Parts: sequence; structure tokens; C-alpha cells
Amino acid sequence: MIIAIDGPAGSGKSTIAKMLAKKLGFTYIDTGAMYRAVALKVKNSGIDPDSEKDVVELMKKTNIQLLNSDGSVKVLLDGKDVSNLIRTEEIGKTASQIARHPQVRKVLVQMQREMGKKAVNAVIEGRDTGTVIFPDADLKIFLTASPEERAERRYRELKEKGLNVTYQQILKEVKERDYLDETRKDSPLRPADDAVVIDTTGKTLQQVFEEILALVNRKLNF
Ligand code: DC
Repeated sequence: MIIAIDGPAGSGKSTIAKMLAKKLGFTYIDTGAMYRAVALKVKNSGIDPDSEKDVVELMKKTNIQLLNSDGSVKVLLDGKDVSNLIRTEEIGKTASQIARHPQVRKVLVQMQREMGKKAVNAVIEGRDTGTVIFPDADLKIFLTASPEERAERRYRELKEKGLNVTYQQILKEVKERDYLDETRKDSPLRPADDAVVIDTTGKTLQQVFEEILALVNRKLNF
């Protein structure tokens, strides 16, 4: 069974996808982490993220692995654990930039399809999971929330980590990333026609999780 979870930055899709994979005992595939790993390598190599040719060349010499073990997920870039290094706002922005290149997407989508097939049962999370990677996914969920609520969640998260950020700055970044993801020509962020769209504005994580679990159970019982 393949469950596709898509949505914009800050919609809660990562947290929900992880919870779901754990509950169901499915493999969790975080496709955004793969774009982020490429972005980190691009940054470290000093090449221009807007140069499709240079990024694709670099990817030929790059190995990305997602490891699921004991409910936690590790991202390995050329064998090195970069799980934390890829989680910065800067890398998120660069990931969004390199994700605009069709050739970059082609390589990563191919890898993601293979990972999903190998896993058999998987929760796959991203921006094009239900539209491009697995158009035949058994269940497609598109999580969303207002930009203000998504920025508020992110702001709280970063404040808790002790970072010096302002809400206005985060809201600006959320809107910028939406713009990049929604306006790219190749696989723009949008719900698949047969996706269940869940607006999480004003809902708790637990409410959203239970809503999705009910959809999964209905699928499993058919
Ligand atoms: O979900 P995330 O914030 O980790 O993703 C980082 C960026 O990667 C996101 O802004 C766009 C890109 N991305 C994508 O284009 N397609 C995916 N399936 C996943 C992420």
C-alpha cells in the first residue's frame, strides 16, 4: 500500500507522515530530504543552484540514502549523516531552487519510485508524490493550512529551539517558498485530482492524524 502525503511547507505533513508510518509499520520516505541533501551538497560545493547543468553534473557524483530504523529516519549524503544539517531555512530555500530543474526532478523521482516499490508498504511525503511519483497511490492526502498559521507554527518551533527570528520574517519565507513551489513549470505543487484535501488550520495534530487514520482504515477494509 502506498500512501502519498503532499502539501506546502509547514502544513504538518512531515510530522503526520512519520506518525502514520510508525503506527502502520510502513516505510517512511521523505522526498523533501532528498532535495535538501542535494541542496546541501550544492551549497558546500559552491556551485550556482540556478545552473541546472552544474547541479545535474554534481548529482552524478552524489549518493543519497534514506535509512529507516527503530522509528527514526536518517539521511545519508555520500555516506555521511546529514539529517540535522539539511533542516535549516537556507537549505530549504536552496532545495526549492534546485527542485525547479526538470533534470534534477527526473533523477530524484526515479530514485523515489524505486524506493517505494522496494518498500512495498510506504508513506511517501513530498510535493509531487500523488501527482507525479505515484499517480496510482492507494491513498492521496493533500495537507494545507493558511500561510499565517504555517508561519506561526514554524515561528514557535524555531523560538523553542532558541533561534532569534521574527514572525514577519518567517511569514515572508513561507510565502516565498510557496511561490517557488507553486509556480515552477515542472510538477508545480498542487493537489492530485483524486487527493483528499485536509485544511489543518485551527486543528490539532491529533485531530488531523485521526482523520487520516480513519481514511486509511476505510481503504484497508475494502
Ligand atoms: O518538504 P521540504 O520542506 O523538506 O522540501 C524542501 C523543498 O524541496 C521544497 O520547497 C520543494 C522541494 N521538494 C519538491 O520539489 N518535491 C518534493 N517531492 C519534495 C520537496
